[in-house]
Amino acid sequence: MNLDGALLSANFSVDYPQKPGVLREIALELQPGEILGLVGESGSGKSTLALALMGLLPHKGAATRGEVIFQGEDLLRKTENQLRSIRGSRMTIVLQSPLTALNPALRIGTQLQEAWRAHARGSRDDCLAAVRTALGSVSLPGDGDFLRRKPSQLSVGQGQRVLIAMAILHRPALLIADEPTSALDTITASEILRLFAELNRELGTAILYISHDLLSVAALCHRVAILQNARIVECATPREIFESPREEYTRRLVAALPKSPFEVERSADAARYLEDVLVDSYGE
Ligand SMILES: Nc1ncnc2c1ncn2[C@@H]1O[C@H](COP(=O)(O)OP(=O)(O)O)[C@@H](O)[C@H]1O
Ligand SMILES: [Mg+2]
Repeated sequence: MNLDGALLSANFSVDYPQKPGVLREIALELQPGEILGLVGESGSGKSTLALALMGLLPHKGAATRGEVIFQGEDLLRKTENQLRSIRGSRMTIVLQSPLTALNPALRIGTQLQEAWRAHARGSRDDCLAAVRTALGSVSLPGDGDFLRRKPSQLSVGQGQRVLIAMAILHRPALLIADEPTSALDTITASEILRLFAELNRELGTAILYISHDLLSVAALCHRVAILQNARIVECATPREIFESPREEYTRRLVAALPKSPFEVERSADAARYLEDVLVDSYGE
């Protein structure tokens, strides 16, 4: 199946016990170093897809049928122990909310060092050097003062950077980011988006970037897959998605994007109604 050097080549369906057919015949391919966007509305199965690729769905009682070939090996045929040695090293995930993903009781430095030791052996100095390099890659300081902080002493943006640093500690070939900017304000979100582009360029990390926001996905990704009704209905370059979408659903997604705050038509009736109300309320 994996003849063309794809990093990831997946063909699978997912059923939850109470919700069969959550994902149907999903076909996804990622080349090394590629950024693939996955767009779909809330509840369309984006997180389920991410968990399926990480081999984490058995923990949620879901059945994944098919194959997920990553670096030539089918992850759906691996034991939990084998998966543990892949997760966090060759393939990692960054979730939406940094402050729930970090342990509130442990210092940042301790958590990063534990994440390093989970997949590497070496001296304390090797470990610290790796942690500092990862923090440097996400533009955070690696000094003792920062490493001693607890998660509550970080801003949400810093928390997300710490999680991304943790995710790239072992230079994964694939980073899955599941709505990594949804909990952030607009400016912090765009800084994190830029950070993903930098990591992709500088470390060559392939990224599966999941979001409900087509605009940010189009800015970052080489290709965009659209998830609707349990299926990937279209997968194309951002330019094709915007300029010549094949699917009606994709056309609706593009058409729904705000183009300018002044473009929304305000009803003349509504304006007149407002005037009447104001006149009535305040008299003349
Ligand atoms: N553990 C679960 N058991 C049953 N249904 C689930 C479970 N987790 C998610 N679902 C359902 O699967 C669908 C897809 O959920 P999810 O993958 O979280 O979507 P998204 O990330 O796109 O918002 C939703 O309808 C959700 O209610
Ligand atoms: Mg989700």
